[in-house]
Amino acid sequence: MEYTVLNNGVKMPMVGFGVFQISDPKTTQEVVEEAIKTGYRLIDTAQSYGNEEAVGKAIKASGVAREDLFITTKLWISDMTYEGAKRAFQESLEKLDLDYIDLYLLHQPIGDTFGSWRALEEFYKEGKIRAIGVSNFKPDQLANLSLFNEVRPAVNQIELHVFHQKEKERAYMAQKGIQVESWGAFAEGKFDVFTNPTLTAISAKYGKTPAQVMLRWQLQLGVVSLSKSANPERVRQNFDIFDFALSDEDMAEIASLNRDATVFMDHHDEKTVELLAGFVGKTF
Ligand SMILES: NC(=O)c1ccc[n+]([C@@H]2O[C@H](COP(=O)([O-])OP(=O)(O)OC[C@H]3O[C@@H](n4cnc5c(N)ncnc54)[C@H](OP(=O)(O)O)[C@@H]3O)[C@@H](O)[C@H]2O)c1
Repeated sequence: MEYTVLNNGVKMPMVGFGVFQISDPKTTQEVVEEAIKTGYRLIDTAQSYGNEEAVGKAIKASGVAREDLFITTKLWISDMTYEGAKRAFQESLEKLDLDYIDLYLLHQPIGDTFGSWRALEEFYKEGKIRAIGVSNFKPDQLANLSLFNEVRPAVNQIELHVFHQKEKERAYMAQKGIQVESWGAFAEGKFDVFTNPTLTAISAKYGKTPAQVMLRWQLQLGVVSLSKSANPERVRQNFDIFDFALSDEDMAEIASLNRDATVFMDHHDEKTVELLAGFVGKTF
């Protein structure tokens, strides 16, 4: 495993396993146990995924020492206030059956993010969270949150894959010491990413799969990647990326796949904000 050091000195694994859209508790527990057995140490869940309890059970069953694991969970919009964050964080701790969280994120830049951030800062200072961060924030929102609060986010977890490479955003975060973590590393399989001719040709050169090439590309960019699979063989495959290195030429070839457009949703589009706010009963 390779690690990055966050802006507060905490070590974070560069490759993680995510559990979005694995809602069945039995499956969640099985795949997380499989992931930890494979070697993953970073597990990414969220209050809104509804599977924190199953993740907690897998952590206990894994037998791996707590200090060797790096557990992330996230605050959902429904609790995006100071009081909401205080309550929801405790609930996540209880569901995960943990004493502390390694990384706790504001899941979306929506709602009272400032009030919530101050609650996170308090937990951070009490030692209940080792690093605090955000998700789906754009550089202007990162600057605003950082400049008007005490603790700067350690991580921003964003949509990032071969079709949406965010070079300028990555450069800004590198300059400000905010670690980029990607979600949707496989663009959730959209646009036939697993059979893309460029990725297929590159993967054949190294005796790897397109999935492994996409994760290796992120590792070489300095991006912490998350991938999700409910299939044990693919869980293992996605971890097997430490024994090869993409050449500069292949990195450049992959850079040419960028379309600079989200394949999910643009968090700066008012329709996205209205949609997400609508999920928690906020409408005009
Ligand atoms: N912060 C946020 O707003 C946010 C949003 C979305 C996701 N996330 C996080 O990021 C994680 C990953 O994102 P994601 O789950 O949306 O999508 P993803 O990892 O880009 O794609 C998952 C899809 O790829 C398939 N897959 C996985 N490995 C494969 C392989 N080696 N070959 C072929 N297909 C493969 C999976 O199917 P199988 O399961 O059948 O293998 C699944 O359909 C999530 O689990 C979550 O932790 C965060």
